[in-house]
Amino acid sequence: MTEPVEKHLKDYKRPDFNVETVELHVDICETETHVTATLGVAKSPEAAEGAPFLLDGKELELLEIEVDGRTLSEVDYTLEGEVLTLPGMPEAFSLKTKVKIHPETNTSLEGLYFADGTFLTQCEAEGFRRITFFPDRPDVMSSYRCTVVADKAKYPVLLANGNLVEEGALADGRHFATWEDPHKKPSYLFAMVAGDLACRKDSFTTASGREVALRFYVDHQDADKCEHAIESLKKSMAWDEETFGLEYDLDIYMVVATHSFNAGAMENKGLNVFNSKYVLAKPETATDTDFQNIEGVIGHEYFHNWTGNRVTLCNWFQLSLKEGLTVFRDQEFSSDMGSRAVKRISDVRVLRAAQFPEDAGPMAHPIRPESYIEMNNFYTATVYNKGAEVIRMIHTFLGPDAFRKGMDLYFERHDGGAVACEEFVKAMEDASGVDLTRFRLWYSQAGTPKVTVDRAYDAETKHYTLTFTQAVPDTPGQSNKKPMQIPVKMGLIGADGMPIPLTLEGESAQGPLERVLSFSANMESFTFTGVEDEPIPSLFRGFSAPVTKVVDFTEEELIFLMGNDPDPFNRWDAAQQLFADTILGMVADVRDDKKLSLSEPLVAAVKKTLTHDTLDKALIAQALTLPSETELGDRMAHIDVDGIHAAREFVADTLAEKLKMSWRAVFEECADDGPYTLDSESIARRRLKSLCLTYLARVETPITTFEAFASATNMTDELAALTVLSDLDAEESEKAMGLFYEAWKADTLVLDKWFMTQATSKRPGTLERVKALAEHPDFDIKNPNKVRSLIGAFCQGNPWHFHRKDGKGYDLLADTVITLNAINPSIAARMASGFNRWKRYDEERQGLMKARLERIKNTENLASGVFEIVSKALI
Ligand code: ARG
Ligand code: ZN
Repeated sequence: MTEPVEKHLKDYKRPDFNVETVELHVDICETETHVTATLGVAKSPEAAEGAPFLLDGKELELLEIEVDGRTLSEVDYTLEGEVLTLPGMPEAFSLKTKVKIHPETNTSLEGLYFADGTFLTQCEAEGFRRITFFPDRPDVMSSYRCTVVADKAKYPVLLANGNLVEEGALADGRHFATWEDPHKKPSYLFAMVAGDLACRKDSFTTASGREVALRFYVDHQDADKCEHAIESLKKSMAWDEETFGLEYDLDIYMVVATHSFNAGAMENKGLNVFNSKYVLAKPETATDTDFQNIEGVIGHEYFHNWTGNRVTLCNWFQLSLKEGLTVFRDQEFSSDMGSRAVKRISDVRVLRAAQFPEDAGPMAHPIRPESYIEMNNFYTATVYNKGAEVIRMIHTFLGPDAFRKGMDLYFERHDGGAVACEEFVKAMEDASGVDLTRFRLWYSQAGTPKVTVDRAYDAETKHYTLTFTQAVPDTPGQSNKKPMQIPVKMGLIGADGMPIPLTLEGESAQGPLERVLSFSANMESFTFTGVEDEPIPSLFRGFSAPVTKVVDFTEEELIFLMGNDPDPFNRWDAAQQLFADTILGMVADVRDDKKLSLSEPLVAAVKKTLTHDTLDKALIAQALTLPSETELGDRMAHIDVDGIHAAREFVADTLAEKLKMSWRAVFEECADDGPYTLDSESIARRRLKSLCLTYLARVETPITTFEAFASATNMTDELAALTVLSDLDAEESEKAMGLFYEAWKADTLVLDKWFMTQATSKRPGTLERVKALAEHPDFDIKNPNKVRSLIGAFCQGNPWHFHRKDGKGYDLLADTVITLNAINPSIAARMASGFNRWKRYDEERQGLMKARLERIKNTENLASGVFEIVSKALI
């Protein structure tokens, strides 16, 4: 095998040829599909003399090729590897190709594929080249007209981007539909579908009074599960009009749901394709979290219509230009629809659980990567979630009004263009007058900055000084980094719990109660004057920057912040810090076999929070959820799997035991037999009830948990109880699993939950059960949702079992990666990254993981994406 090549941002050049028009004719048959493409091509004025026209093509069988009606012979072109080269082309010409492809056997789920009875496409990032020969890069933008032909009885629904312009019957029971997209677009936004699907219809009237037809295409049996997604879409459309003045620009918006999808969803122009888990929901089958995720992902794809589609990318290195910005937009949307603080907490949990480890591992990259081997590997928490944090910091520095002006200017300048992250930053800068020169380092430097804060109070001068020090860690290919510009949103709190005015040295007027400090040196001090008594600082409110903060807070101070910080996010964060300090402080004692004990003030603080009568129940639930074993591990230089597990279990058991009465009382108080409603208050109540159940199960008999399971009337309560039961080594656990399966075996999305609950169980024998479940008739290695629910959940979400000392957890992962390499390389690569943190473990485990990585690397016909992950991990 020749080693895959790495592509570099510094080598980027605009294309030599532009494709103005694309006419596609896709003729679908059971055992093959013919694609005829007619491209209207024009040489770019900047193209070098004699530059050839290069087209990408992958797994295509070339049947015919013509230029301006003349059939080319083999001396007129070269086809090597995945590149078709046409030398000596005129200024403008028409290129016609005909290829044969095999969607019916395409298990990669990229390009055109057949799954669960439907033909559909996924082209981002480089899937269009699996459909036809094309300069498959986002800076080539064209007008598309697409005709789909298929058997009418089997595939009555034929869709593509834009508007339907013609349809009709053909011979032999076949039919066709022709779609035309009035907007130019890059090839990655192309989509088409042929299937037998139910259509749920609705409509939305835009602010300017245009009526948009909304169409949701799903399996017939799922037609009753679209309501929430449709409502979410309408809310998204209204929100983007109100918040950013952005209206939808076509007369029809289609969403197709599929059970077989590599990612979450895809923003193809006017024809989104969604993983069914982000569309289908009803209270009996979906949890509150599912409902919230649907709202968020529907919003995300809709918002892409402006941030991604109307203004697109000039190359894939700029992916965060659309993804970071669109995640920021969907986060803001969800915050406005529900509870802002709760949304922020869950977003930060994701960032800490997924992005921080990535930023500290072998795949660490800046939000604008400088190179890649396989682009699919860069749809990461860094590009998406840290990318959104970077946008959020700009928002924090500029304020909402200037940010909005920046957005307006960005669209004014770049609508219809394919641009880079730089254009966004420049628009923000020009619209606001704020200098973002140093801030740009967030786009080029990887690694999570560590900010240490020292505090000094001078009782004589009444001066209070905060000294910030930052260290940006070395990451692969990057060392000796420059200090970043970091927004520190903060306040000072007096002993009475009241906020103190923040007057910086040199200021004459009394300052505000909250402010954003801009910290952009290696070390910088901020002195506040007129501070009567030593305060407690509340720093990085609302998680104002994606950094790790190190402050030498005592337990007492953390308890104070947990109860008094006016910023709800920081109250939560103080609780998390307190738990993390406590648990990690015990790990050494576990190792030395010492007796563990939990401090009385901590128990009292938990009780106070739990029984607080004015706090939002959702915040209480978040605050009292212990940090996960994975997150705790990430806070340790050398991860002690067993120590963390034992210490965390001890803290949970002790809190359960000492506060038994309170957990029970709050549980009862949160019970409600009324009908299921999806308002924030009901969600909060269910969440707190579930949390109480997790503690109660540690001290009460399994029968009570089983009763909670059996009496549940919605999936939120049912799954919460099942999850608690799954950790218990009791017959009730098996019984509940059996009942759940019988009740839901016809619903593939609910079965994903069944697989996942068992995969993340703490019970002994979990690995053996996971292996047995991989042989279950309802498990399907070709279905990414199933792989993620069972194997993914086990390897990423069950560290204690995955890191078994006999290496059998590692074998399961390596075997899965090797099997998937031949089926779905993009999922294989994603799974392989489960070994990325191998160097953080003890020597024995390191050795075991390294051996598995080497085994994968030596696999024959290793896909470039898997190669990239394992070879970077092994450096
Ligand atoms: N652009 C899609 C979204 O974020 C995701 C596409 C995922 N593609 C991939 N190759 N991983 O909405
Ligand atoms: Zn996206």
